[in-house]
Amino acid sequence: MEKKPLVVVNGLVRKDAIAYLKEHVDVRQWTEKTVMPRETLKEWLVDADGLWCVRPLDVDGNLVKNAPNLKVIAQAAVGYDNVKIDELTAAGIPYGNTPGVLNETVAELAFTLIATASRRILENANFVKEGRWAQRPSNIKGFDLSRRTLGIIGMGAIGVSISRRARAFGMTVVYHNRNQRIDDKIHKTTYMELDDLLATSDVVCVMAPLTDETYHMCDEAFFKKMKNTALFVNVGRGPIVDTDALISALKTGEIDYAALDVTDPEPLPADHPLLDVENCLIVPHIGSYTDRTRYDMSILTADNIIAGVHKKPLKTCVNEEVNYKKPEMDVESALEELKKAGVDLADFD
Ligand code: GLV
Repeated sequence: MEKKPLVVVNGLVRKDAIAYLKEHVDVRQWTEKTVMPRETLKEWLVDADGLWCVRPLDVDGNLVKNAPNLKVIAQAAVGYDNVKIDELTAAGIPYGNTPGVLNETVAELAFTLIATASRRILENANFVKEGRWAQRPSNIKGFDLSRRTLGIIGMGAIGVSISRRARAFGMTVVYHNRNQRIDDKIHKTTYMELDDLLATSDVVCVMAPLTDETYHMCDEAFFKKMKNTALFVNVGRGPIVDTDALISALKTGEIDYAALDVTDPEPLPADHPLLDVENCLIVPHIGSYTDRTRYDMSILTADNIIAGVHKKPLKTCVNEEVNYKKPEMDVESALEELKKAGVDLADFD
């Protein structure tokens, strides 16, 4: 029997996706609850054809340098700030991420945070739970979203999905991006320079990827440029925000409130000062965390790996320049395919 390709998985992923993967390849998985030691992973990769990587893991040229058979790496995430794409490209290894399938889910979470924070749902609900309905202080009054401005920083597909929800709530949407989009008219959005966006927006929502340019973009000066009444939301990546600057902006009233899906560090240790900040709502990086979407992301990851180990094109490849190409068909096979599809070649005479 022909040997199946070997895929290494360096942590826990959905069982149904592993079962699907196993229909096509052999799987060697780290199933301990502890993080797999990097040196052990490097040893496992010596024989591997594919790697399904699970955070925390820095994926770089050093990790793959003694993996002569490695043909593909994929991760069930759209973001790839833990991956040195240029080093994988230099090693000729295509990297697959999971764009598209999570857009609506992440946009739903982002808008849920905006709506929850704007009406101080958490604080109000806690007073009811604690039997103190009538003792609610007046400073947990919410604010309207309608007739307010949402500023989105990082206007990719998820940003556009957030903007649709915001407009349904009667908000005006402005955005800042590396490049102005060409479809502003369709989405009824307006491009702004960053400083103008910060001065204009009642809600600032960060949706940008983490890069050298965006690292600590939200610093002391950034928060100073926001309105004192503004809500700050981060659904991008934790290190885009200088956490100390955010804590100080919230404590001094530089900004009114923050709602975070991502933090720096992650997970937040139980004694982290951010947890003592009253006007801050934090959820544990659950942007794409619904059953259907996590399933879709896992199956897309498995499909990318199955394709890659067979040197077939990955469906969603970040470094397309090293993605596998569809084999070009010779004329005879092409004619055979047409015949099989029921095309009568005589029609073309
Ligand atoms: C989640 O954070 C992702 O990048 O998919």
